[in-house]
Amino acid sequence: MVSREITKGIFWVGALDFNRRLFDALIPLPDGTSYNAYLIKGSEKTALIDTVDPAKEFELVSNLLKLGVERIDYVVVNHAEQDHSGSLPMILEFYPNAVIVTNEKCKEFLIALLQLPPERFRIIKNKETLSLGDRTLEFYITPWTHWPETQITYLKEDQILFSCDLFGFHMASSDLFVTDEAASYRSAKKYYAEIMMPFRTSIKGHLETVKTLPLKLIAPSHGPIHRNPQLILDAYSDWTSDAVKNEVVIPYISMHGSTEKMVEHLTNALIARGITVKPFNLNVTDIGELALALVDTATVVVATPTVLFGPHPQVVYATYLANVLKPKVRFASVIGSFGWGGKTVDTIVKMLDHVKVEVLEPVMVKGQPDEATLKQLDRLADDILKKHTEIKIV
Ligand code: FEO
Repeated sequence: MVSREITKGIFWVGALDFNRRLFDALIPLPDGTSYNAYLIKGSEKTALIDTVDPAKEFELVSNLLKLGVERIDYVVVNHAEQDHSGSLPMILEFYPNAVIVTNEKCKEFLIALLQLPPERFRIIKNKETLSLGDRTLEFYITPWTHWPETQITYLKEDQILFSCDLFGFHMASSDLFVTDEAASYRSAKKYYAEIMMPFRTSIKGHLETVKTLPLKLIAPSHGPIHRNPQLILDAYSDWTSDAVKNEVVIPYISMHGSTEKMVEHLTNALIARGITVKPFNLNVTDIGELALALVDTATVVVATPTVLFGPHPQVVYATYLANVLKPKVRFASVIGSFGWGGKTVDTIVKMLDHVKVEVLEPVMVKGQPDEATLKQLDRLADDILKKHTEIKIV
């Protein structure tokens, strides 16, 4: 990997990970990812903004050595998660004068996760500044832009925001800056769904702070740098808003075809009513695509056969995930089939305790869906249309 100069005296020194396919042992990474670290040379001091995943620590050190960096005064840590902090021990060893600059909560995390020596820290408070000579760093503590200790760093003179996870996206690209805005938008929306959506309310507040800063660039810690900050800021305003779309997401599993027939019928009934439908067969779907669809859908209909006494385990997994991602979905229902009873509907509805949804009357059938069942599905489609109309999205 090679370092790249962003503007005079400011360098990308991170690592690209083209082959990584899973993050946090959970999130699919179809396009790999990057761990962006940045070097800022001031007239008096030099700062490194974040490090990289420990699997890439030699690339970070090699980038710094190739640039001839003999001294680092400050290592700013915006976030303690190991994909950004994991190479700190090696950096501290290579640069024995380097001081870790971060907030108090992040220090606690770093000591717990990496056993770093407390005497190497300098603690900053919200809006505190740090001079590098002719350049000034300003810190904003932004809890829950992933973890509770997260912060962002603003380089005042150059008007660059180093936003760490916030505004990032998982894409390993040899481009330093965003070039394909459409592809980046989609990737950033998926990343928002997977990483940021549970903290929508907090992020909404931090967004107002970010909007007060004059910005030429937003340099996140994953993916290429935003040269058009307004685009990603507008996208975040949209995603974090309370507005939902005239859409229905249907995560489903079918064992012997009954539930699939119901999904097909409901899908067609909703299309006929002018509603966008996104069915996801959980046997083949990428869970990231399901998360993406949840960002602004108004309704979710969970479709499942009954296995023994309740929903299919894959449906349980998807419902659990959808619940903890806390989308702004407004309505939910359950459809599916059973052989001899069970508590499928109750189990699913009870799992939706993190989302504030109105539950529309479920449709469950013993065995194959008959004419009466298909009529009930039409009634559910009518109910959904009525609800979407009431909240004025149709
Ligand atoms: Fe990219 Fe929350 O770590």
